[in-house]
Amino acid sequence: MTDDRTPAAAAPGTLTGSVALVTGAVGALGAAICRDLARAGADIVVHHLDQREQALALCGELEDLGVRTVEVSADVTDWDAVAAALEDAQERLGPIDILVNNAGWMESRRLVDTDLAQWRRTMSVDLDGVFIVTRLVVPGMLERGEGRIVNLSSQLAYKGATDFVAYCTAKAGLLGFTRALAREVGPTVRVNAIAPGPIDTPMVTPHATPEWVHTRTRDSVIGRLGLPEEIGPAVTFLVGPGAPLFHGQTLHLNGGGVLG
Ligand SMILES: NC(=O)c1ccc[n+]([C@@H]2O[C@H](COP(=O)([O-])OP(=O)(O)OC[C@H]3O[C@@H](n4cnc5c(N)ncnc54)[C@H](O)[C@@H]3O)[C@@H](O)[C@H]2O)c1
Repeated sequence: MTDDRTPAAAAPGTLTGSVALVTGAVGALGAAICRDLARAGADIVVHHLDQREQALALCGELEDLGVRTVEVSADVTDWDAVAAALEDAQERLGPIDILVNNAGWMESRRLVDTDLAQWRRTMSVDLDGVFIVTRLVVPGMLERGEGRIVNLSSQLAYKGATDFVAYCTAKAGLLGFTRALAREVGPTVRVNAIAPGPIDTPMVTPHATPEWVHTRTRDSVIGRLGLPEEIGPAVTFLVGPGAPLFHGQTLHLNGGGVLG
């Protein structure tokens, strides 16, 4: 019997010659996505938010896989900072072919306890941030006649969740962004999303009491949290040569939490 927790490794060389920017790359899912893209041969721009030490460590690990890397820091909500980081990265590594909008912000708060600043913090990272990075990367992709984008939405965009109204709203908005942009810039630029279920990462850990995990996983098929390394292969597939018909789609990486 195969181990259902060991996803297949990316086909080596599939993405050789491509440059991939992963935002929030030192986060749990970001790093896993970088590793998988690098295994497929992509050079990686490791974007982070003032986490240089971790970024350099990740770059070292990726370079051991035989790819080139650079690390850049920028707050994704700051247009000028993102523009400067992109210029720096592209000067050193070349034009960005693949963008993974992974950086995200989640906080747990009921609607009646949420003030406008808290609401806006989630919207600014999870929506403005994606808009800014994408807005600055897409013109180059269109000019060169090719590009691929994957946006990190969430299963919660479909299910909703008590205490996460801002996050669920932002991640649902990201699906609208994905679909609209896919129509606008496709087929030149292939734009898709993934919507993971709960993954065992520090974003989830603060909430992960046994009751929380039970509630979040009881109606899934696998009945457990996902693992970061189970996310990368889907991203690598969507940006790779095997997904030419995927435009504006969402892959549900949720172990059967939302079926469809
Ligand atoms: N962990 C899960 O269960 C889960 C499930 C569904 C979707 N997601 C989504 O996957 C993505 C990654 O999640 P994760 O679990 O790895 O979380 P994480 O907290 O480990 O990583 C998020 C990253 O985003 C970066 N970031 C946050 N605000 C930023 C800003 N203003 N500017 C630049 N970078 C910023 C952080 O530095 C961090 O590296 C997020 O978009 C999240 O919403 C996660």
